[in-house]
Amino acid sequence: MSRVRACRADELEVGAVRRVETGGTPVALVRCEDGYHAVIDVCSHEDYPLSEGEVIADMCEIECLRHGSTFSLLDGEPQSLPATQPVRVFAVVVEDGDVYVELP
Ligand code: FES
Repeated sequence: MSRVRACRADELEVGAVRRVETGGTPVALVRCEDGYHAVIDVCSHEDYPLSEGEVIADMCEIECLRHGSTFSLLDGEPQSLPATQPVRVFAVVVEDGDVYVELP
């Protein structure tokens, strides 16, 4: 397990998403109303970055810009077609005002 600093906590507004390069694993870091979430920044339908999509902050979901599938940021499960496979989720820790992503 490795911990990668993503940003300062106040850099990301609620409803915002940012791509974080974590040394080989692209991560989409999202801030929802309940806090920060991280998923792999590759849609499970096709190779397309989820960080280009739109955050549905009150549902804690992200919508892929390419074909419109939405994914839960809690467990990565697709909520709508055409995607049928989940995306990986990563734990997020906020410590001393910084946001960290935990990678396996
Ligand atoms: S690439 Fe994301 S839904 Fe098709």
